[in-house]
Amino acid sequence: MSKEIFLNHLAQTSPFPFLIEIERADGVTLYSPEGEKFIDMISGIGVSNLGHRHPKVVQAIKDQLDKHLHVMVYGEYIQASSNQLAKKLAGLLPPHLDCSYFVNSGTEANEAALKLAKRVTGRTEIISCKKSYHGSTHGSLSVSGNEVKKNAFRPLLPNIRFIEFNKEEDLTSITTKTACVIMETVQGDAGVRVPSKKYLKAVRRRCDETGAQLILDEIQCGMGRTGTLFAFEQFEIAPDILTLGKAFGGGLPIAAFISSQEKMKTLTHDPMLGHITTFGGNPVCCAAALATLQVIEEEKVLDQVEVKGKLIEQLIQHPHIKEVRRAGLMFAIDFDHEDRVNRIVQLCRENGVIGYWFLSNPHSFRIAPPLTIREEEIRIAAAIILRAIENS
Ligand SMILES: Cc1ncc(COP(=O)(O)O)c(C=O)c1O
Repeated sequence: MSKEIFLNHLAQTSPFPFLIEIERADGVTLYSPEGEKFIDMISGIGVSNLGHRHPKVVQAIKDQLDKHLHVMVYGEYIQASSNQLAKKLAGLLPPHLDCSYFVNSGTEANEAALKLAKRVTGRTEIISCKKSYHGSTHGSLSVSGNEVKKNAFRPLLPNIRFIEFNKEEDLTSITTKTACVIMETVQGDAGVRVPSKKYLKAVRRRCDETGAQLILDEIQCGMGRTGTLFAFEQFEIAPDILTLGKAFGGGLPIAAFISSQEKMKTLTHDPMLGHITTFGGNPVCCAAALATLQVIEEEKVLDQVEVKGKLIEQLIQHPHIKEVRRAGLMFAIDFDHEDRVNRIVQLCRENGVIGYWFLSNPHSFRIAPPLTIREEEIRIAAAIILRAIENS
């Protein structure tokens, strides 16, 4: 019955939805109404970095529910939860990233970041990377690299040039006509592509030379996923505009674009209300995001990411595997054919582990478990994944 409602009355995104039914979720485990258990090795696609329903995040949500919900559109009233979250972020980020604008989803953060870059530079050209994914709304789709996903929705934004990710020679495309370069610090949906430090430093340098704004999209690779709170910390650079989402809200929908106060002020005039949102900065979501940042610090979550990543890498070794790409606890495991990946996903699921695909990289199996996953949970999940690979 619930399956019929889901299929007939909820809009579908593909002919093959995953179709497990969830009654509740706790830590790394999802539970079905029939009592089946699944170890979530993808964190709801990069969201549940602290596991599902971390008690301190849930408590912060409950505390905020008792105070107030929505009281006004973004940017008018002073609200403690968004104030505290913005202050916390300013303390964690480099000094020039001192001003946050909270929105509702990753794609919206990128849309607004592109607008901000246009406003700051007075230019219109955008440079993005092949194979990138920045979201599904018109602007973010326009700067995403997957041509197949875009064709049905043209015309999209004009004046965008695509360069090869991690290829220094292509950086000459960035000129004094360029408003911004948008890239994921570590490409996610392309199948976990980690650029070299030399490359990202060259990107930063080229943006400085030309006055182009560097937007780093850390919607998937941020919030500790790669072992540091922000992935860019590992490359000794910083963006002009940073976008966050997914795990940022600890399971509630909130995203952000963050820049300097001076740059953000361009959105207040000519035209006034240059970017507006009704629900952006929702107090309950801000409370959850603040608690998430506090838990990452208090429970020293980042210290364990690399250790756990290495352990998974050690445990999941098999002759069928062609290549493993990893950044912290973000994995792409390559196989000879997408059919094998499909069988592995299916076998894992039948045996109580959720692994997944990438949008643009069908030969890779995706793992990105909660950063809080325990060693024994890793060992159980890895054994099931290994058996699935063996039987694929
Ligand atoms: C790197 C990156 N940017 C942007 C987005 C879009 O975020 P949302 O789905 O919240 O709009 C995603 C989602 O997968 C992403 O991985």
